[in-house]
Amino acid sequence: MELKEKIAAKLKEETALQQNYVKQLKTEVAILRDKLGRTPTCHVTTFGCQMNARDSEKLLGILLEAGYEETESEDADFVIYNTCTVRDNADQRVYGRLGVLKGFKNKNKAMKIAICGCMTQEEVVIEKLKKSYPFVDLIFGTHNLYRFPQLLCDLLQTGGPIMDIWKDTDITVEDLPVARKYPYKSGINIMYGCDNFCTYCIVPYVRGRERSRNMEDILAEIKCLAKDGVKEIMLLGQNVNSYGKNLAEDVNFAKLLAKADAIDGIERIRFMTPHPKDFSDDVLEVMKNSRKICDHIHLPLQSGSTKVLKRMNRKYTREQYLKLALKIREMLPDVAITTDIIVGFPGETMADVEETVDVIRQVEFDNAFTFQYSKRTGTPAANFADQVPEEIMQEGFDLVLKTVQEMAKKRTALLQGKVLPALVEEVNDHDPSLVTGRLSNNTIVHFKGDASLIGQIIPVSLDVCQGFYYLGTRQ
Ligand code: SAH
Ligand code: SF4
Ligand code: F3S
Repeated sequence: MELKEKIAAKLKEETALQQNYVKQLKTEVAILRDKLGRTPTCHVTTFGCQMNARDSEKLLGILLEAGYEETESEDADFVIYNTCTVRDNADQRVYGRLGVLKGFKNKNKAMKIAICGCMTQEEVVIEKLKKSYPFVDLIFGTHNLYRFPQLLCDLLQTGGPIMDIWKDTDITVEDLPVARKYPYKSGINIMYGCDNFCTYCIVPYVRGRERSRNMEDILAEIKCLAKDGVKEIMLLGQNVNSYGKNLAEDVNFAKLLAKADAIDGIERIRFMTPHPKDFSDDVLEVMKNSRKICDHIHLPLQSGSTKVLKRMNRKYTREQYLKLALKIREMLPDVAITTDIIVGFPGETMADVEETVDVIRQVEFDNAFTFQYSKRTGTPAANFADQVPEEIMQEGFDLVLKTVQEMAKKRTALLQGKVLPALVEEVNDHDPSLVTGRLSNNTIVHFKGDASLIGQIIPVSLDVCQGFYYLGTRQ
């Protein structure tokens, strides 16, 4: 058998196996229900990016199918933390909250605690969990997430503890239950992993090598979502515009976008995250000709200094980034460009930060996430000798943040007085007479309305600009 056929056979076998475990789980959860005298509760807590959020929907889907009932509180019979390790503060948040979970577990002997996601792919984390958090019952990683039905079944049968971490995988089982958080929008994985190895970043180590899903499978999933009433999809991957590189078929991200655009029922298409080095003109063309692809490109800059970009292994220069961003501005003037910026990368000087500030001013980002560099064990940059002292990092960070905010306000204000379609996402937390909608370009608008509008796309006039968002009126 050829390798490709072998993998296909393995996928089929593994899918059947896990589907079977889902059935077995129903029996196990029924036994637990009888023992407790009530329906067991579950809670999935997500840390990190949209890809983790999507994985959490898969975890919750299996738990609900098995017979658990979801609860808002982490004081539940089964709690799972789906973790992120992109920066150290993400790790610290998990450790802090595990302490709280221990308190719940002391009161509820039936409680089981699980941890999965990016943190558990790191040896240092596993050592720490074993030593300081022995009350965790189930630990698994990103590569065997699809084995959750089997792992949970084993846990319920044996009582645990269970730990199963893989170094890599060649398959991902997709045909398992999913509980979408929102009825009207959904993420959809188009690829897994990352091969870029930016020198600061842990993701390639914890998510493994880049693997694109077959285009037919992706399109079939989008059609299913459309049938299910989903209006907005977000195509997910660490580097979406390298989609298709490892596939035998002649596909790429632009082709996938064009095909997705043709699916009836889907009204909005977003994607996250494109890498500037691979952003093709074809993608811009498809965007230009599409009504559905949203007016938003998140284009991580990281740094505006070519010297820093080189040491980050980003594979583009300051000039190449500027050329691309300004081309987008020219070709697609309504598109909001947002970005990620890291301040305090090893060796970065204030002169480098000034170069970043200059790019922010030239592009006029609509919004940006600004991060202080966080040293990740195992990445090349962690061993660079010229780590930046905390005070210098803070000074650069403040300057970048101030510039980002200034530009974001300027860009947001441009929409004043326009009437634009907003997808209503939720009733406003602070004022229940208002609903919160999102424009195609990702700007938020609050306006009078009620829960019946959730999931609808309606025209809203943008009356009052409040800095980064609007107060509006339904038209
Ligand atoms: N694949 C995406 C980003 C994934 S991580 C991309 O290439 O853009 C999301 C963001 O976290 C990154 O864009 C980067 O700005 C930030 N980040 C990643 N590693 C970091 C680190 N070690 N310290 C600080 N920020 C980091
Ligand atoms: Fe990390 Fe770079 Fe991959 Fe993004 S492209 S996930 S920053 S290694
Ligand atoms: Fe975090 Fe993993 Fe996403 S490290 S940013 S959750 S891929």
